[in-house]
Amino acid sequence: PITAVVLVAAGSGERLGYGMPKAAVPLGGEPLLLHALRGVVAAGVGSQICIALPAGHDGLRQLVDDFRLELADAGPLLTVVDGGSTRADSVRSALAALEDGTEAVLVHDAARALAPEYVFERVVDSLAAGALAVIPAVPVVDTVKTVVATTGEDSKVAPELVTGTAPREELRAVQTPQGFHLPTLLRAHQAAQALGEKEFAAVTDDAMLVEMLGVPVHAVRGSTQSLKITTPLDLIIAEGLLEGPLG
Ligand code: CTP
Ligand code: MG
Repeated sequence: PITAVVLVAAGSGERLGYGMPKAAVPLGGEPLLLHALRGVVAAGVGSQICIALPAGHDGLRQLVDDFRLELADAGPLLTVVDGGSTRADSVRSALAALEDGTEAVLVHDAARALAPEYVFERVVDSLAAGALAVIPAVPVVDTVKTVVATTGEDSKVAPELVTGTAPREELRAVQTPQGFHLPTLLRAHQAAQALGEKEFAAVTDDAMLVEMLGVPVHAVRGSTQSLKITTPLDLIIAEGLLEGPLG
């Protein structure tokens, strides 16, 4: 299928705490966005890459312009849109800017700047084999429990009370790039507009919206290298990964 990549890079990077949008934060001396862009281009999976950037950030726009010149005519079409106030809004803006004739889309977090090529390939292969939605996922290493905040006397003992333990064998930590049949993802984002504010705030990935439609979502093997650079610790790990791939 004719495939595009949406690269969402419009977040503010609050948890990283650099006082600048995360896409501009240096990793190995270069902005995170540059690493992410290189990774997407190297994977060679899209004829268009549409990047959602923080509105009004001239530096990041310049970075994309420079990168476009570097690619010259051989590379994919690089387009830029202003992101929105939530990730889902940024995705929606980018989807609206895809070229006519686009059949499939990979939605990727710029924050997963070191996602390996083979993960992109697994997602694309699954789409080519007929999946309408496919996500990269890895097993969860921690035991995961549900909790509630304690109240009254209980809160003197501890701030939270455990309500259950999730079956770890069935759990997966989900990454990007997530791949979709474009009309299906558009329909999912359309349906999301009917969600209440609280429900919408709980939407953390695109596959979740497709699940709500009742469309099957398939999972392929992701990679620990695709970590989402979120906290200062993640940045340290990413710097380490730049030194050489995992064994
Ligand atoms: N993102 C986006 N538009 C938003 C929010 C997030 O394009 N309004 C993107 C981010 O740029 C990132 C990805 O979605 O590539 C995942 O988001 P996250 O890791 O939460 O990044 P930030 O929102 O920048 O970080 P924080 O939540 O700590 O502010
Ligand atoms: Mg965020």
